[in-house]
Amino acid sequence: MVDLYKNKISVIGLGVVGLTTAVGFALKGHRVIGIDIDPEKVMKIAQGMSPIYEKGLGEALKKSRIHAAIDFEQILDSDISFLCCGTPSNGDGSIDLRYMKGATEQLAEVLKKKKTPHLVVVRSTVVPGTTEDRIIPYFKDLAEVGICVNPEFLREGTALEDFMSPSRIVIGESEPRWGDILLDLYDDFVCPVLRTNLRTAEMIKYASNAFLATKLSFINEIGNISKKLGIDVYEVATAMGYDKRIGSEFLRAGIGFGGSCFPKDVAALVARAEETGYIPKILKEVLQLNREQPLRMLELLRKHIPELRGKTIGLLGLAFKPDTDDVRESRAIPIIEALVKEGAKVRAYDPWAMPNFQKLFPQIEYTSAQEVLASDATLIVTEWDEFNCLDYSNSIVIDGRRVDSAQKARICEGVCWEGNNNVGKEKPADLMASLDRIRI
Ligand code: UGA
Repeated sequence: MVDLYKNKISVIGLGVVGLTTAVGFALKGHRVIGIDIDPEKVMKIAQGMSPIYEKGLGEALKKSRIHAAIDFEQILDSDISFLCCGTPSNGDGSIDLRYMKGATEQLAEVLKKKKTPHLVVVRSTVVPGTTEDRIIPYFKDLAEVGICVNPEFLREGTALEDFMSPSRIVIGESEPRWGDILLDLYDDFVCPVLRTNLRTAEMIKYASNAFLATKLSFINEIGNISKKLGIDVYEVATAMGYDKRIGSEFLRAGIGFGGSCFPKDVAALVARAEETGYIPKILKEVLQLNREQPLRMLELLRKHIPELRGKTIGLLGLAFKPDTDDVRESRAIPIIEALVKEGAKVRAYDPWAMPNFQKLFPQIEYTSAQEVLASDATLIVTEWDEFNCLDYSNSIVIDGRRVDSAQKARICEGVCWEGNNNVGKEKPADLMASLDRIRI
């Protein structure tokens, strides 16, 4: 029988990155086997159901017909394996390679039985030097196994779209012949391709995430200063963004970044740098500012409700960003911890993330957006579109994400901008004139 598939690929680790990579390559005409240690997840995928909420992934999974298994032996029926295991943080911020180690060990065992060449591609985010020092040694006696590093730049919520239309493809290669195979796999993707060595490819991923995180802490700092000076940081950011060297994206000031990537990756890069004896001052401050930023909401809240004990405080938004049910490193976590510590009663609403959040905070009340708005005060933590359609007119709102209609609240205070409680305060005429000029 003629094999109609272009290549046979296996993907190890079926989280957002792995599953998107598996489905994406399957849609491109490759035969894909997905391997994961979680039998429940594997069963769902095998039935064509996505175990995670990710836009478009469920439908694409049904179309793609990928195979899913827990059995590593299945890898023998592929020629290229993508390692997509999670790389969480240790307590000190350094990278925890436990899942990578487990998967690599099993992969190496299986590949001992393989008679034909095999390419192992590290797609997980691993600190520079990991592939050379911690992955390659497992394959050193296997002459026909090659190694590449191929970092992903997928955002949660648009992961499949980002896979299909990448901004760039980075190929770190142990030898050019292995990089050639990976290049071939990406032959019908239209974007710049960069070929380099393994540790440079690893660093490109960290440098990209660390830069974006820095941009966010930077604009939040400008926002904090602007708030003190009665300046709207969103107008400042709009004007800054027209400079191509700065760019307009990632300048939405607020309560900082969460998610499974930025906080963990910046911390891991800091730890890796410190191992070399270098103290990365900027990156440490990026993280520190990000830790403090959500707590600014409480300072602002106390301006309006000085004693929080016994008061009911509502939260709109629990996900780390809109359009996901992921609550990892959500800014809602430190905010709720602080509120509970101060003796406030907390109620919260999120369109998708309540079940996940409930696992972390079973003691708070989960309710509707309307109920949240009936609290003594409401904090906006995630900028879901639907929050722009709520009636805030009877509420005291501290807005951490700049939701336009919250400005209509009885009192609205922005975390890095004024809100409406300073309405009537005169702005200097020359400042008003310059703001009008930049308005489009
Ligand atoms: C991030 C990167 O954007 C991806 O390129 C990368 O591939 C991914 O990490 C990863 O390493 O796998 P993601 O964590 O999905 O993607 O989320 P982002 O959309 O980047 O948002 C991160 C955080 O920054 C969110 O909490 C969001 O609310 C916040 N943010 C983003 C702002 O506060 N302001 C902005 O202007 C943009």
